[in-house]
Amino acid sequence: MNDTVWHNFHLCAQGDPDRTIADAALAVRDGKVAWLGAQRDLPGEFAAWPRESLSGAWVTPGLVDCHTHLVYGGQRADEFALRLAGASYEEVAKRGGGIVSTVRATRAASEAELLGASAARLEPLIAEGVTAIEIKSGYGLDLASERKTLRVARELGRRYPVSVYTTFLGAHALPPEFAGRADDYIDEVCNTMLPALADEGLVDAVDVFCERIGFSLAQSERVFEAAARRNLPVKMHAEQLSNGGGAALAARYRALSADHLEFLDEAGVAAMKEAGTVAVLLPGAYYFIRETQLPPIDLLRRYGVPIAISTDSNPGTSPATSLVAMLNLACTLFRLTVPEVLKGVTQHAARALGQEARHGELAVGRAADFAAWSVDTLAELAYWIGRPLTQRVVRAGETVY
Ligand code: NIG
Ligand code: FE
Repeated sequence: MNDTVWHNFHLCAQGDPDRTIADAALAVRDGKVAWLGAQRDLPGEFAAWPRESLSGAWVTPGLVDCHTHLVYGGQRADEFALRLAGASYEEVAKRGGGIVSTVRATRAASEAELLGASAARLEPLIAEGVTAIEIKSGYGLDLASERKTLRVARELGRRYPVSVYTTFLGAHALPPEFAGRADDYIDEVCNTMLPALADEGLVDAVDVFCERIGFSLAQSERVFEAAARRNLPVKMHAEQLSNGGGAALAARYRALSADHLEFLDEAGVAAMKEAGTVAVLLPGAYYFIRETQLPPIDLLRRYGVPIAISTDSNPGTSPATSLVAMLNLACTLFRLTVPEVLKGVTQHAARALGQEARHGELAVGRAADFAAWSVDTLAELAYWIGRPLTQRVVRAGETVY
């Protein structure tokens, strides 16, 4: 791989617009950052290296989409129409639509079909600067179909220039064959599915949908215990539709993140702070199900809980394939600031995956994963809606878009 000095750009190496370097340079050797700083300070040893100009762009670390359900069959536009006619998300789920309808389509799809459908959602994310992504299972809900989903996620990571982190979300919904037997299904998740999938190297973390239409606190805790026995970190879909105390439970298990959080209370915020659990906010889901309860942003700020932003890309609550669009939604709907949302898709998102040593920041010795943006100011990343802004996306020193 060629050594290169990138020059003629402005650098936001931590994803924090309050810490930038104007007229910067970045030396890359073997795909890793060998040096970065102000162009005028570039050490003599790099002077003879081949140079590439970024034409005055702004450079950020590659973006991290830390909460997605990218791999699934079908789509749910019909359910969207039902909701437009007045049904709530919860009502649709109770009538047998919702997650379970995607489970049918996902079970029916071949691995190749799932791969094709998911790749079509991944490509636009890569084109807008995403170099690391989390992908959850949870639309298979039996061992074979969860395995198929996670294998497709891993395969996407091999075929595409993006680091994929997999999360086993077997406890996403109750599959029809376990109707009325939720505890038996949790046994299956804990004693059969999780051990088998973990043995196959398909699981980087474990997630639970803790909710009235998902699983109870006690059931969630059993899944967390099973994850702990395997030394796997946990995450939780918590307080999305109601306040059930899930975030505090997640914090007790040192969860990497608790996600959604519209109904989170102060006790939950305090517990998350104490445990170092990241608050992953999902403005696409808030918007798409026309939620009106805002997540407790001021409490999260006051307690200093790190906030991440993600697409939640999924067919039911956030059919989104743009993380950059989420920056605008998070600012507009949640009143987050530009520095908050940019940290939310870089350093804080990496932390929500337990991967802050690898992603979310550009530093000497780390992989040269970055996006170069054709903008005059970083605020434009949260300002434009739907306008392609990447001039170039680089992963491990190679231009991938
Ligand atoms: O993150 N809340 C649970 N899971 C997904 C939605 C799943 C679906 O409706 O298909 C979410 O919102
Ligand atoms: Fe989700």
